Amino acid sequence: MTAMTDDLQTLETTAISELSACTEEATLIAWKSKFIGEKGHMKAALGKLGTIPKEQRAAFGQDANKVKVALETAYACAVSVAKEAALMASLNAAPLDVTIPGRRPTQGRLHPATQILREIYQIYGELGFQVYRTRDVESDERNFELLNMPPHHPARDMWDTFFADAPAGTVLRTHTSPGQIHVMREMCPNPIRVILPGMCFRNEAISTRSEIQFLQVEGLCIGEGVTMADLKGTITAFARRMFGPERQIRIRSSYFPFTEPSIEVDIDWPQDDPNRDRLTKGTGWLEIMGAGMVHPTVLRNGGYDPDIVTGFAFGMGPQRMLMLKHAIDDIRLFWQNDLRFLAQF
Ligand code: FA5
Repeated sequence: MTAMTDDLQTLETTAISELSACTEEATLIAWKSKFIGEKGHMKAALGKLGTIPKEQRAAFGQDANKVKVALETAYACAVSVAKEAALMASLNAAPLDVTIPGRRPTQGRLHPATQILREIYQIYGELGFQVYRTRDVESDERNFELLNMPPHHPARDMWDTFFADAPAGTVLRTHTSPGQIHVMREMCPNPIRVILPGMCFRNEAISTRSEIQFLQVEGLCIGEGVTMADLKGTITAFARRMFGPERQIRIRSSYFPFTEPSIEVDIDWPQDDPNRDRLTKGTGWLEIMGAGMVHPTVLRNGGYDPDIVTGFAFGMGPQRMLMLKHAIDDIRLFWQNDLRFLAQF
């Protein structure tokens, strides 16, 4: 045995004895760097390899490697013992009570506006209508002109409009009616039966009944021999499925530039509902939509020949319907994202 291998043995003995005193993370780290780290004793011992006479070098190298492996193994072992001890200490300090009930994850749900939209899709789906989507950002031409409202037409005042500067003539759609033009131009000359749901925007004073951003659902049916009776039947079927099988509908004449004749549709409100007077302003009838027979000019703008086909259209506000169904007295609640309101649906 050479003086050098003697040194290795001393190093191993000292290191192992010091390791036995290290029981915590900090002391273990310090030990690691002192003995087996980059600047540790083991590295220094290996560095002396070059100074050893040639004939002893191989034996020294083997011994040094053995010591190195022994120290690394001892270190890994000490670390796992220390971890185990720390875990036991923490379990004893705060014992785990497996009988405590787990925390129930809160479940998400659909927004009430999405719920009523799906209800509307379901009802009109059963009546043979497809859902068709068009754009929120429109041209003045489609939002107004092609719907029979040329520039300076006084009926434009019925819709307070958000105009965008560029490109010129861009508006946020004030109603879903421009969708009628999109569908007609895509489907012409075929018959049409679609509903067009979507967001609309009006530069209105926000109140309990009016938002500047709100949903509408448009309906459009075009074909040979479509009459006002079809419109009435469709609306009645819808109202009874949505609000109850006993509901009666009332039709009043109205005016929209894109329908002729134009109507507004009311439903009777249940006699036994204590909110009846408040909701119907004492009349017993409640407005649910505007509608009418598609104006010949609009049919022509969509590519159809008004001498061959006729059609009806309607437009309604799902949020106002939800307010009726659930006696919600403020439309602003829908977009405020207050979970106390939303969680009720
Ligand atoms: C229209 O927008 C027509 N385009 C409807 C129509 C379509 C008529 C097809 C004929 C043929 P009106 O402005 O009345 O009509 O709006 C229709 C519905 O949208 C209203 O009954 C209401 O439910 C809803 N609505 C209108 N303005 C607001 C608002 N500011 N906030 C919330 N809902 C609104």
